[in-house]
Amino acid sequence: MTARPDGPLLVRGDFELQNENGEIPRTRASIALCRCGVSAIKPFCDDTHKLVSFTTNPAPQSEPPPPRYQPC
Ligand code: FES
Repeated sequence: MTARPDGPLLVRGDFELQNENGEIPRTRASIALCRCGVSAIKPFCDDTHKLVSFTTNPAPQSEPPPPRYQPC
């Protein structure tokens, strides 16, 4: 399994994917699993992550807010 930067999880090789009912939705040699949460064909990626600018990079840390009270 390979995590694509700003994209899906690519699964290649000998595997079997089952849903919660034990059904196998598709069998292929490789699949791309959505991890942005907006795909219309979950659990598979439909490239919608590009439209929503999904990013796997952590958001920049913001500066902590200033103290409300100044110590004496
Ligand atoms: S990762 Fe591609 S649609 Fe979600």
